[in-house]
Amino acid sequence: MPKERINLVVIGAGYVGLTTGVTFAFLGHKVSIIEKDKAKLNLLKEYRPPFYEPYLSDLMKLAKDNLYFSDKLQEVINDSQIIMIAVGTPCKENGQVDNRFIDEVALNIGQALSPSGRHVIVIKSTVPVGTNRRVSYIINKELKKRQIKGANNIIFASNPEFLREGQAISDMLYPDRVVFGVSKPEDIEWLKCLYEDILKQSFPPLDFLPWPAKIKSPQLIITDPTSAELIKYAANAFLAMKVSFINEMAGFCELLGANINDVANGIGADHRIGRDFLDAGIGWGGSCFPKDTAALVAMGKELGYQMRLIEATREVNYNQRKYFVDKIQKALKGVRGKVIGLLGLAFKPGTDDMRESPSLDVLRLLLEREAQVRVHDPVIVGNPPDAILTLGVEVFDDPYQMAVGADAILLVTAWPEYKTLDYKKILNNMRGNVFFDGRNILDPHEMENIGFNFKGVGF
Ligand code: UGA
Repeated sequence: MPKERINLVVIGAGYVGLTTGVTFAFLGHKVSIIEKDKAKLNLLKEYRPPFYEPYLSDLMKLAKDNLYFSDKLQEVINDSQIIMIAVGTPCKENGQVDNRFIDEVALNIGQALSPSGRHVIVIKSTVPVGTNRRVSYIINKELKKRQIKGANNIIFASNPEFLREGQAISDMLYPDRVVFGVSKPEDIEWLKCLYEDILKQSFPPLDFLPWPAKIKSPQLIITDPTSAELIKYAANAFLAMKVSFINEMAGFCELLGANINDVANGIGADHRIGRDFLDAGIGWGGSCFPKDTAALVAMGKELGYQMRLIEATREVNYNQRKYFVDKIQKALKGVRGKVIGLLGLAFKPGTDDMRESPSLDVLRLLLEREAQVRVHDPVIVGNPPDAILTLGVEVFDDPYQMAVGADAILLVTAWPEYKTLDYKKILNNMRGNVFFDGRNILDPHEMENIGFNFKGVGF
């Protein structure tokens, strides 16, 4: 149990808000989660997460007594010590961040809050640099309009999240660092209480999520709000750049006859570089890297500053998808009328999220070139989203059935179950023998021995 039990309100029950709120409730804090979507709220009230995230429902059950779900901010806001904003920040057409939901929440806070004591308002969402100041402006303006005193008791902080989908609970409990962006160092007092058990790693062990092998106490980084906001974008842009870097090298390896996996191991062994995020493949997608790199470029433009590396990172990533389809086209001597099966739709394993997934561009490009496309994904099985159904592709629950009569199979998502499929059976069911591993998870020699015309990325 933490020394001080914080009364926390989290606004928004998306991936970030729900995972964060549930974890703090598990750690003993009193957490109210505000969600305006009625369908989501009904599920939450039955302690059922509205999306797939490993261990989230287990943790929700353990944290039940400390959790309260509602759509009425005014019911809980005035008893709160910390109010955490975790609503979505989608991307506009021009790459800029759409701040609509943040502004709306700031307005709601300004209209509902009557500060009797101190409140800390924390921005958890990934927001354009400068949003902390804007949120404080909107809230203070509303309080003034209502002639509410006590605005001096409100502290505005930025506390970016570094949660990976599919590993969000583990990233919450065992982070590398925790970042607090505040105007004065003494403003972190309650935030420190909230994070105490995470910073000290002093919470009870979890059967389903044991301590990672090499766990050390997370670093606490205290900075100003603007730097905290930028840390989030810079971290995602750097990781995206690492992946694009290895993919650029992979293309070069193919021309030179070198092997990208060995190159990645060779450079990754240098502790200054690190092996993580050097897996070559069809590239990155998801709700974060595409949006955050686009936002960085757009923020730079607004200030007349060109983000050359980030622009190139994006270009390499999106070319990778086309390059992949071009390779298939070449191997099949044209894809028109060919039956092509895709293994994997999600943007990465461990999630049912298909936002900005490379699979969608591969699908579109193949359909444009008049291929007959079929798909399989272990999580999307039985419940394919509209985005897929409207494309007119056939969705299979069974990868072996999908292979029947196929000319080529493409592996797009690195699901672990795809490592152990019976590939002899897949080949026997196929009409052709072309196999593309877009994530380099299969052994090329084994696949060739089985009889595939096998291709990967970067060798
Ligand atoms: C990312 C960051 O990793 C989190 O730290 C951050 O908090 C989160 O964005 C966010 O902004 O909320 P996420 O989008 O869930 O998390 O996914 P990652 O695990 O980072 O993977 C991103 C993409 O890169 C995936 O499409 C993955 O397949 C690809 N990738 C990753 C590679 O192609 N190669 C690699 O070596 C690693």
